[in-house]
Amino acid sequence: MPPKPGILAAFEAAKGFMPVDEGLALYEAAEEAAATGLPLLEVGTYCGRSTILLAGAAREAGGVVVTVDHHRGSEEQQPGWEYHDASLVDPEVGRMDTLPAFRRTLHAAGLEEHVVAVVGRSPQVAALWNAPLGLVFIDGGHTDEHATADYEGWAPHVAPGGLLVVHDVFPDPADGGQAPYRVYRRALASGAFTEISVTRSLRVLRRTGHGV
Ligand SMILES: C[S@@+](CC[C@H](N)C(=O)[O-])C[C@H]1O[C@@H](n2cnc3c(N)ncnc32)[C@H](O)[C@@H]1O
Repeated sequence: MPPKPGILAAFEAAKGFMPVDEGLALYEAAEEAAATGLPLLEVGTYCGRSTILLAGAAREAGGVVVTVDHHRGSEEQQPGWEYHDASLVDPEVGRMDTLPAFRRTLHAAGLEEHVVAVVGRSPQVAALWNAPLGLVFIDGGHTDEHATADYEGWAPHVAPGGLLVVHDVFPDPADGGQAPYRVYRRALASGAFTEISVTRSLRVLRRTGHGV
């Protein structure tokens, strides 16, 4: 089933980088994973654009999404970089703070009850985590250090048959940074994951084996 019109409209209205076709593929994966009754987990909340889709799918199944971000922005979102948005800088602190925009977005979409937002660094949160997940969506920092830590921290928690979704997978370096692509290749090479769909830069893999 496609997302409800209100969910798609809220997604399209939210700040963020994900195009609609990738969003629909993410929703489809989330819908399947949420039906297992297990929570969904996102690394990289930003202003909540993709969270809306995960939460919309979780709501249909009576489930929940956990979304993790330190809300200080990735490297490419800092002042002077390509994806910087000056309206997201906290003037008092002088640093990026996407948490207020995220909370407004989620409230407007009526999805607050279906989301647990964790403010923190992904590896620190992952180190505390000990529960199976129906879906892990990796869309956090895009350096090798961050993408690798996200994979090593969260992929082990994908339940048997559960889904690992990686965003910004660009096989051609001319299209974008290679860290998410390397994580995706590593997941496939591990023998633990099998690809089930490709939509632009969004890859959906299923856990079909042990380990990471
Ligand atoms: C590309 S944006 C996420 C976009 C979002 N998924 C969407 O579709 O709108 C990446 C986010 O990851 C966060 N991030 C980067 N490295 C992180 C880390 N190590 N721990 C937690 N969050 C991190 C940044 O603060 C940023 O908000």
